[in-house]
Amino acid sequence: MTTTIRSQNATLNVDAVRADFPILTREVNGHPLTYLDSANTSQMPAPVLDRMREHLRRHNANAARSAHTLGNEATMAYEGARAKVAAFVGARTPDEVVFTKNSTEAINLVAHSFSASGAQRTVDERFALHPGDEIVVSEMEHHSNLVPWQLLCDRTGATLRWLPLTDEGRLDLSRLDELVNERTKLVSVVHMSNILGTVNPIAPIVARARAVGALILLDASQSVPHMPVDVTVLDADFVAFSGHKMCGPTGIGVLWGRSELLELMPPFLGGGSMIDAVSMRHSTYARPPARFEAGTPPILSAVGLGAAVDYLSALGMPAVHRHEQDLTAYALTALDKVPGMRVYGPKTTVDRGAVISFNVLGVDPVHLGGVLDSLGVQVRVGRHCAAPVCTRFGVTATTRASFYLYTTAAEIDTLVDGLMLAQRRTPGDRGPRRVATR
Ligand code: ALA
Repeated sequence: MTTTIRSQNATLNVDAVRADFPILTREVNGHPLTYLDSANTSQMPAPVLDRMREHLRRHNANAARSAHTLGNEATMAYEGARAKVAAFVGARTPDEVVFTKNSTEAINLVAHSFSASGAQRTVDERFALHPGDEIVVSEMEHHSNLVPWQLLCDRTGATLRWLPLTDEGRLDLSRLDELVNERTKLVSVVHMSNILGTVNPIAPIVARARAVGALILLDASQSVPHMPVDVTVLDADFVAFSGHKMCGPTGIGVLWGRSELLELMPPFLGGGSMIDAVSMRHSTYARPPARFEAGTPPILSAVGLGAAVDYLSALGMPAVHRHEQDLTAYALTALDKVPGMRVYGPKTTVDRGAVISFNVLGVDPVHLGGVLDSLGVQVRVGRHCAAPVCTRFGVTATTRASFYLYTTAAEIDTLVDGLMLAQRRTPGDRGPRRVATR
């Protein structure tokens, strides 16, 4: 198979990019590492690793608490990272960027802001849930954008509804006006599916949510790392994403929210830094984003995320996106040549990202993952924290390959060779036996 991608538009120098990622030179099980699990966690380039090391060696102190020199430097590094992230996603002001642990925590923060009407806590009407009120998600959500809303409905008596999927793995919007209606208080949908790769049409969903006065949250965990995303253009109310999927470290995520909404929201966690005045009976709270950042924040992780944003910005997100589109087209064609291949999700690159889930007829995905791992190929096997999608397509697990700015066509060839080998090593096997649990 050919190992080069021919594109008129490719402007990313992938060899130079790869040279920035120290981990890509290692071997796994006696083979060169083929890292195809970036939708799970991406790798970090040297400039990110160096910036974090430099921070620890020169500037380590607590942020927003200490008036001494190192404390000021740590605060400037932390707030500097916030400003970089804000600019990266087109926020109007850094104050619209709340640092969290990850997307999951960001979504839980918003869910926590809602209360049943009549609850002791006073909330703005937009965050008050009355009997009969509804929350709308989709059938392609990651568990992190499903379970928090199930918990909220359990807590308040609200009803959860969802937009279904088409057989192609796209959102079926034919009943949008029925599902998002005057009872809807919030619509929370994924921008790009972590299992199907589908990039959802956000504009009609936002328009419908606005028409009925509902708030709208986007889970952008898989879109912000891979394509230009501007929160002002998307026009949602909240956008959540994670640092460790965009060349940053684990332990840092982002909730972008409209200032006027963040101002209305109650605290999430209580503790230091999120307060204004405190007495033994009562406290008042800081303005956002500090109100939502109780305790010592993940300063080092924020610094790393800031460096990741610098790195991606220097390359240009349009170039990153184009490279991934080329890879996805190449991979869809290459995978199609594997006998018994079934790909879940769109079969073209139109409104589709660089995540491909599949099964090979007669081959247990867990066995497949094991054979690939023995060849140094790192893929994710299981339900990908999106069990309802597996249910929708009648499977208990899939194998998922996901690509990023450092992925090459040669690595996709290695994947395909590994799939062929796994098939040869599966005598008489007829489908999944063991199920990966998450
Ligand atoms: N959301 C991550 C994934 O899809 C964990 O792999």
